[in-house]
Amino acid sequence: MPLVQLRRPSTASPDSEVALGGALMDRQSRTVRYLRVSLTDRCNYRCTYCMPEEGLVYGPRTDVLSLEEVVRVCEAFARWGVTRVRLTGGEPTLRRGLVSLVERLAALPTVEPARRLEVVMTTNGERLAELAEPLARAGLRSLTVSLDSLDPERFGRITRRGTLERVLGGVEAASRAGLWPLKINTVAISGFNDDELASLVRWAWERDVVPRFIELMPMASGELYVPGELLPAAEIRARVEEGLQTALVPDEGEGVRGAGPASYWRAVGGAFDGRRLGTIAALTENFCSSCNRLRISATGQLHACLARDDTGDLRSALRSQDPDRLERVVRAALGTKRDAHGFNIDGTGGPTKAMVSIGG
Ligand code: 5AD
Ligand code: SF4
Repeated sequence: MPLVQLRRPSTASPDSEVALGGALMDRQSRTVRYLRVSLTDRCNYRCTYCMPEEGLVYGPRTDVLSLEEVVRVCEAFARWGVTRVRLTGGEPTLRRGLVSLVERLAALPTVEPARRLEVVMTTNGERLAELAEPLARAGLRSLTVSLDSLDPERFGRITRRGTLERVLGGVEAASRAGLWPLKINTVAISGFNDDELASLVRWAWERDVVPRFIELMPMASGELYVPGELLPAAEIRARVEEGLQTALVPDEGEGVRGAGPASYWRAVGGAFDGRRLGTIAALTENFCSSCNRLRISATGQLHACLARDDTGDLRSALRSQDPDRLERVVRAALGTKRDAHGFNIDGTGGPTKAMVSIGG
């Protein structure tokens, strides 16, 4: 048994009773507008909270959706009302053909007149310096870059294989290429980066980048999760307020906020008055009621929730001869989308799947 299991068998079977057609609405009346698509479950980093250093077991490459299949899936979801696709990994920039994939996806029509599919991406930034410009030209709209520390030694320690300088160069290149709003994701970890939360925010705000902090989540059966390392979002905000001599008030306005798990906060007073920051608090500030997303793993499994193991097998549907099968699988999986995740602060209640297999 590998330490981190990368995939699980399907649990939602396509049910011939599932009604076809219409927007993708789940039992809680949440309409799916946003799809996250993982392009690979491989990564050039080995972040300590995400992957074990060694012992990863990958399936055959033919299990991974081809780029053609990714386009077919996104085209279908766009027909059903999805307007925004986020490419994730593992590390999506490792996928060959990424730039032309972005170009094809960004040209897909949506249900909204004259509106093309909005394509965004989450990356660790290691290859961004070379890729930002071609990706922007291909139609990528914006980017989120993971950045857990501004200290080169710490950055190397948490990512095991990353180089801070390359990532910072990547963020600069993305900014030059007009990939805006640029966001950074920082997993806040007590005893690791809790003393530099304010500096990360300052760094971001000085560059017109939106900082976001993520509470540590117990993925992979809690194998890589240490309960004492969880830093609650309220404490994260308090540290930023103290460090930057500002107050943070809720900001639900238009602009950076996509409907999603992040709650946004605005600085009032101090040198950065009006700037925004996000917190993603799966454990201490549940956001499930506004969840409008589905996720597809690199191997074509549809996940209704990040924190659960429910899946639907899109790959078999795509490779079958039955033209309605894809839609039946999607709607059956949607029927399994529950009203809340099961994460517990003690590390129990999460999924067996690892973040690297689904891309956050
Ligand atoms: N808990 C919280 N965030 C995580 N990420 C990866 N693993 C975890 C975890 N266990 C983050 C990455 C990236 C985003 C997609 O998810 O750092 O920024
Ligand atoms: Fe780190 Fe993201 Fe790679 Fe996981 S997928 S090891 S969080 S860079």
